[in-house]
Amino acid sequence: MFELTHDKVHDEKRQGEAFAALAVAASSQKKFYIESYGCAMNFADSEVVASILIDRGFGVTQNFEQADLIFLNTCSIREKAELTVRKRLTEFRKLKKENPGLLVGVLGCMAERLKSKFIEEEKLVDLVVGPDAYRSLPGLIEEAETGQKGVNVLLSREETYGDISPIRLNSNGVTAFVSIMRGCNNMCSFCVVPFTRGRERSRDAHSIIKECEDLFAQGYREVTLLGQNVDSYYWVDEDKDEIVSFAKLLEKVALVSPLLRVRFSTSHPKDITDEVLFTMAKYGNICKYIHLPVQSGSTRMLQMMNRTYTREWYISKINRIREILPGCGLSTDMITGFCTETEEDHKETLSLMEYCEYDLAYMYYYSERPGTLAERRYEDDVPEEIKKRRLQEVIALHRIQSLASMQKEVGKTAKVLIEGNSKKSDEHWAGRSDINKVVVFPKTNNDLSKGSYADVLITECTAGTLIGKIV
Ligand code: SAM
Ligand code: SF4
Ligand code: F3S
Repeated sequence: MFELTHDKVHDEKRQGEAFAALAVAASSQKKFYIESYGCAMNFADSEVVASILIDRGFGVTQNFEQADLIFLNTCSIREKAELTVRKRLTEFRKLKKENPGLLVGVLGCMAERLKSKFIEEEKLVDLVVGPDAYRSLPGLIEEAETGQKGVNVLLSREETYGDISPIRLNSNGVTAFVSIMRGCNNMCSFCVVPFTRGRERSRDAHSIIKECEDLFAQGYREVTLLGQNVDSYYWVDEDKDEIVSFAKLLEKVALVSPLLRVRFSTSHPKDITDEVLFTMAKYGNICKYIHLPVQSGSTRMLQMMNRTYTREWYISKINRIREILPGCGLSTDMITGFCTETEEDHKETLSLMEYCEYDLAYMYYYSERPGTLAERRYEDDVPEEIKKRRLQEVIALHRIQSLASMQKEVGKTAKVLIEGNSKKSDEHWAGRSDINKVVVFPKTNNDLSKGSYADVLITECTAGTLIGKIV
């Protein structure tokens, strides 16, 4: 699944709007501050955590200096992600010295991976709570207030937080994440997620639809359905004796309103079906954009990665997408320098990219994670400078391709969902097109506001933005 950059989510203006709506009441109320790292699922989880705490009478603050409780919702996907959290914790250490009553909690994947070891390693941490244990947070906070350390890292086979209405912390009021499943049953050899998030389970379809309906009623106009592997969504409606597959779920969400855009992430190439592609083609409000991580262009690497598809299988999926959904936006994830990767393997990655012409790619060099299959089975034998050089080559090729994909849009008309003012000017709107390109255009029509759709003729572009005018 695509990961979120700190900048993207910690857009102060957007946060400000959301937090103003949650304006904290009594001054005696204990306030928490929460900072999220990693993938969209973690950001969505923070909204569940906020809901659980606000329900118990806590208030939320955007300023950690005013907080009685500080939470870091952490990521373990690469070593660098963990180092970022460690660094942030040292910054909070100073604060805790000044205010000994302050509680610091670590949530999410790093909490799950390190468990109580975290408390031994980072003495200032009071709470360590894994992704399936957030309901126990209020009780653990009470314990921590008496000076005990609170740890709960139990993984569950059932927990989906389906009944909890997330509090939209970082929202622009137009787009929202909706979690549809948790965990992952794939065992990609490089990946720590199956260990930090546990077994895959799908959320009750009724609660998903209800959340989307509520969001629409509140003025939201786009939902992104989230899961590590959305195509394996599977839920049985026992009342109706109906099996709800991901394609069925997509259809049900699309039917909430034609004005509600639907996106989803992440699709696994082995699981995305024709039924999903045909459902996308059938509904105008399901965005024509697929994030289909490939990881490598070499079948030998893919086998070692345990991705369970070959280069040819992946290409056949891309062809099928292009056939059923012409013009569909495509993005991917790529890892360079996985164990034993040769120059030949690397060239296959570059040639696969040439073929697929991705609109967007999230590119990384391999970072060995403790406990994963790759760590146990293979030697991390590609020197770091080679991993990094190959990554630079992948990035350079992607830059050329993504600019070309922007230029292809010039002269076309895009239907844009307005998300707010453009970052650079209050005189311009910014939003995204169906195929997920950022579009900026002048505010010439007074009827438009955040959450409106506009037909925009694209007149020029930069590497990251399409620029146009209303038609
Ligand atoms: N479930 C999704 C999938 O199957 O593609 C995404 C999982 S992960 C949250 C996001 C991306 O991080 C992966 O697609 C992969 O490219 C990258 N990643 C995962 N483990 C990694 C590792 N050990 N080193 C470098 N990148 C890694
Ligand atoms: Fe990790 Fe693979 Fe699961 Fe994605 S599908 S979360 S890469 S194990
Ligand atoms: Fe997501 Fe990072 Fe966990 S990418 S699932 S927060 S390891």
